[in-house]
Amino acid sequence: MPKTIIEPFKIKMVEPIQMTTEKERIGLLKEAHFNTFLLKSKDVIIDLLTDSGTSAMSSSQWAAMMQGDESYAGARSWEKMENSVRDITGYKHILPTHQGRAAERILYGYVGGPGKVFISNTHFDTTRANIEFSGSEAVDCLTEVGKNPAEEHPFKGNLDIPSLIETIEKWGAENVGAVILTVTNNSGGGQPVSMQNAREVSEICKKYGVLFVLDACRIAENAYFIKQREKGFDNYTYKQIAQEMFALADGCTMSAKKDAIVNMGGFLAINDDKLADECKNLLIITEGFATYGGLSGRDMEALAVGFQEVFDADYLHYRISSTTYLGNKLHDMGVPIMRPVGGHAVYIDARELYNHIPVDKYPGQALVCDLYLKGGIRSVEIGSVMFGKYDDKGKLIPAPMDLVRMAIPRRVYTQSHVDYIVEIFEELLENKRNARGIKILKEPEFLRHFTAHFEQE
Ligand code: F0G
Repeated sequence: MPKTIIEPFKIKMVEPIQMTTEKERIGLLKEAHFNTFLLKSKDVIIDLLTDSGTSAMSSSQWAAMMQGDESYAGARSWEKMENSVRDITGYKHILPTHQGRAAERILYGYVGGPGKVFISNTHFDTTRANIEFSGSEAVDCLTEVGKNPAEEHPFKGNLDIPSLIETIEKWGAENVGAVILTVTNNSGGGQPVSMQNAREVSEICKKYGVLFVLDACRIAENAYFIKQREKGFDNYTYKQIAQEMFALADGCTMSAKKDAIVNMGGFLAINDDKLADECKNLLIITEGFATYGGLSGRDMEALAVGFQEVFDADYLHYRISSTTYLGNKLHDMGVPIMRPVGGHAVYIDARELYNHIPVDKYPGQALVCDLYLKGGIRSVEIGSVMFGKYDDKGKLIPAPMDLVRMAIPRRVYTQSHVDYIVEIFEELLENKRNARGIKILKEPEFLRHFTAHFEQE
């Protein structure tokens, strides 16, 4: 068997990348105040800011878009989306939304409120924000092994069962808004959740009469890891694995911008009739009528096709292997990364890589800037810029880790792009002692990472 994993597609349409020199990028980064969110995408060579909504659609998806039925009510395109989503999730009620967080706002806004708690392996930022906005509390119960970046384990996204039971008992089952299993666990490094763990969570939720919801953004990638790493799934297709996991929960929210390979879209799906009715009312007030929910007919067509395509065995093999390829190359070179490599992204432990830069000089942001300066690569800091707080003396309380995420868009970059990223890291490693810390010049009160102005020391 040849070692090279080739992209299982041919390229029919191309989008040019504007090349820049390091000298030009110094000026561009200064203009963007050393904040890569403030760069123009045309000035980026390889954009690894997110895998959300940045994927390349297939010729079948583009062809389906031409069939878009833009009727306000009862559109054919909605029927196709509903059938496709129901085929995979098996849920009775499907509610379309413009993206994942809209589904979260509707469901958690309704079942949440003051005095309630939500329990997850790790709540994604928007999930936590919607829960807290409703007045509820969001509690993360990740297994200990999941919190250690260097430790190898096949399912570091698993929810910790003893903490789950303890939290339900502490709050009282009647005060639990929902238990949310995020597959794969984005904020925890894109690590997978095992079927066994989902089964145990399901049994406990049934026992206590608590709502069990999947955050299913990357469920196809999670299914790939289950087939490779968990006993008993050899004869399953990836789609069957996902179907089995959906069957364990009472419903799901999904940002279709990930594993339905579309640029915009999402949905909420649930079995309970009354809950579905209440959510449908909220959907109509804020998103749109129940047969489009903020999406155009052509978006729904693309979603219907993409959510089936993502389970293709060759696609998933290429997808996960190419992320692993990048992660393993960096690991072998001595770049400290979260292990094992997750599904959609490689996370670099910048605090360790740049261990000469103190935490209050933001080693993560320093690496984000260096990746851009050296290679025109855009990544994102997930550390003390994003989550750091100040104590009452104005001293930084750092985040638990200073990571840099390089998220890989689906079907967009080829192996030569990945090899280029590896070469840039070779250069960074050679010059690592010259890396400089970062100072914050200006920051807003909330979500400072998006708009803050920085300077290199
Ligand atoms: N849940 C998870 C696990 C996510 O990763 C995201 C988005 C959402 C919910 C919200 O979905 O963006 O469609 O509203 N994650 C993106 C990222 C933004 O870059 O990881 P959305």
